[in-house]
Amino acid sequence: MDRRLVVLYGSQTGTAKDVAERVARDARRRRFRVLVSAMDDYDRTRLIDEAPVIFVCATMGDGEEPDNMKAFWKFLLRKSWPRDILSNLEYTVFALGDSSYDKFNYPGKKLHKRLQQLDARPFYPKGEGDDQHYLGIDGTLDPWLDGLWQVLLQRFPLPPDQEIISDQELLPPKYRLVPYQGKSTAPPTRSAAPGTIAARVQCNTRMTTAIHFQDVRHVVFSIDEGVRHRPGDIVRLMPSNNAENVDALLSLMGWMAQADDLVLVENTDPDSPVPADIPQPTTLRALLTHHLSPWSRPRRYLFELLSHFATDEQQRDKLVEFCTAAGQDELYSYCHRPKRHCVEVIQDFFAVRNVPATYCFDLFPEMVARDYSLASYAEGKLELCIALVEYKTKLAAPRRGIASEWIRTLGKGDAVPLRVVPGTMTLPDDVNVPIICVGPGTGVAPMKSLIEARIQQGATANLLVFGCRSKAHDFLFEAEWQKHVDAGHLDLWTAFSRDQPAKVYVQHVLLQHGPQVFDWIHYRGAHVYVCGSSNQMPTDVRNALTLIVQNGAGLTHEQAVEYVAGMKKARRYHEETWS
Ligand SMILES: Cc1cc2nc3c(=O)[nH]c(=O)nc-3n(C[C@H](O)[C@H](O)[C@H](O)COP(=O)(O)OP(=O)(O)OC[C@H]3O[C@@H](n4cnc5c(N)ncnc54)[C@H](O)[C@@H]3O)c2cc1C
Ligand SMILES: Cc1cc2nc3c(=O)[nH]c(=O)nc-3n(C[C@H](O)[C@H](O)[C@H](O)COP(=O)(O)O)c2cc1C
Repeated sequence: MDRRLVVLYGSQTGTAKDVAERVARDARRRRFRVLVSAMDDYDRTRLIDEAPVIFVCATMGDGEEPDNMKAFWKFLLRKSWPRDILSNLEYTVFALGDSSYDKFNYPGKKLHKRLQQLDARPFYPKGEGDDQHYLGIDGTLDPWLDGLWQVLLQRFPLPPDQEIISDQELLPPKYRLVPYQGKSTAPPTRSAAPGTIAARVQCNTRMTTAIHFQDVRHVVFSIDEGVRHRPGDIVRLMPSNNAENVDALLSLMGWMAQADDLVLVENTDPDSPVPADIPQPTTLRALLTHHLSPWSRPRRYLFELLSHFATDEQQRDKLVEFCTAAGQDELYSYCHRPKRHCVEVIQDFFAVRNVPATYCFDLFPEMVARDYSLASYAEGKLELCIALVEYKTKLAAPRRGIASEWIRTLGKGDAVPLRVVPGTMTLPDDVNVPIICVGPGTGVAPMKSLIEARIQQGATANLLVFGCRSKAHDFLFEAEWQKHVDAGHLDLWTAFSRDQPAKVYVQHVLLQHGPQVFDWIHYRGAHVYVCGSSNQMPTDVRNALTLIVQNGAGLTHEQAVEYVAGMKKARRYHEETWS
């Protein structure tokens, strides 16, 4: 019997990839051979006659597929496929999403439906992970995996002479670091992904006043003369870790002596190739600086791995407990609620010794690129508006965002490789159609590119609804907006939430101007754009617009909800939000 499984993932920020790798490790412990791959890297022609496939599928944008499954998804959607083309395929799906979004787990649900349409058979029910679960994705993943392995071991029993490899046994590392014998002069960094452009920092200045709680940066990059990107595009930046922090980590792990030795990264399993963006040869220091993210939230596997190297029994027991179902609440209190990062965990478990550096890929998550909305429509430059993430938990040290820390240090003239990718928002073709841009905080960034493009097209029916805490401290791009207002190119409505006793937000301002908003939406076919924090704001704005439509058109609440949903379907209502 061929005991082979295939795990295919679609992942934007790495969580679904981590889940896929966890499934693969569990499978190897159960003596399956297993191929793990991003859906787009997989040879899709093999799907017709494939071993059982476990799809792990995250959700991005407004219910969209992650980038590394888009081609696969398009392939599955081909109309020309015979109705029963996948009749030999058995599969299951684990979807990852966040139930605070409207389109909860859409790609996973759609994938499941499409596979069934093509006659593939689910061998195990679909699972749905939810970021809102207090234990995160693991809250639903753990029980789903328990059931999955029961089903698979019934279908594919262990060979008579073999047992499940116990959790007490250390699995081989994902990749091996092999000493490099040749000569190399260039300092290893990161191999550029296709489409990377060379940009230089023109300025990196604080936009908010020094006493404002948040440091928001105006970052401008110069790019090739004459190159202009589309309004609504996204700039994708790959951060690096701070050199001093990397030094401290190398010392903590006892890896300093080998930090700068040239090594080749080789795979230990023929079915798990080394990512193409790792330069060969490289060094451990370069990997920890550019490729891995030790200052991120740990995966559960970190605790399992550390338990193998703990020299103190109590610490080992605690680490093992964190990997059990019973230990999840405690793991949450210790690690996830206060947002400890991997390095802090390793510092806490000081009795962990001699972890071989070759396990670095298993210990730490991969660094993932961060997206920023393009805030300009101009040739030869890219403007961004970036809120540096910093907040407190019960831990003494403030929590700081990985990219935020890196952006803070960028200085004039620094070379930054970046990519520009299409966003989800597009302008109406007709310049007479009004646009209503609702962009509180840094949500105003993409609005700036949209509005600048509209003004260049000669459109004047442009409305910006901007919100922030106070006019004096965080009114982003105030001078630019005023210039457009004075020129008659822009209507500007503002909500300064803390400038008066009662809190005022963008949705309140929309409601105050209900009849005009209704007129633009209903009679002039306005397009609406909502950007910024994914917390409560998008829902509040949608509710306000629903009420405006309800009152304006004399509809019931249900009809008004349908009306706004219809705008979304017709691509007249765009939401681009982030946490
Ligand atoms: C399409 C798109 C466009 C974007 N455009 C912009 C933009 O124009 N400007 C901009 O500033 N950002 C934008 N972002 C967000 C940006 O990509 C990063 O997520 C952000 O800069 C944080 O990255 P980081 O590496 O500094 O933080 P990370 O290290 O990734 O940490 C961020 C995480 O910290 C946690 N967190 C943050 N604040 C708190 C808090 N107060 N309390 C508890 N936990 C918290 C959250 O879990 C959050 O996900 C955009 C995101 C997307 C997807
Ligand atoms: C910018 C952004 C947009 C998202 N949009 C949705 C969405 O529309 N629906 C949903 O269910 N989850 C959404 N999510 C939640 C992610 O799907 C979830 O966090 C998932 O675990 C991410 O997996 P990944 O790290 O593999 O990309 C979104 C997350 C982000 C950061």
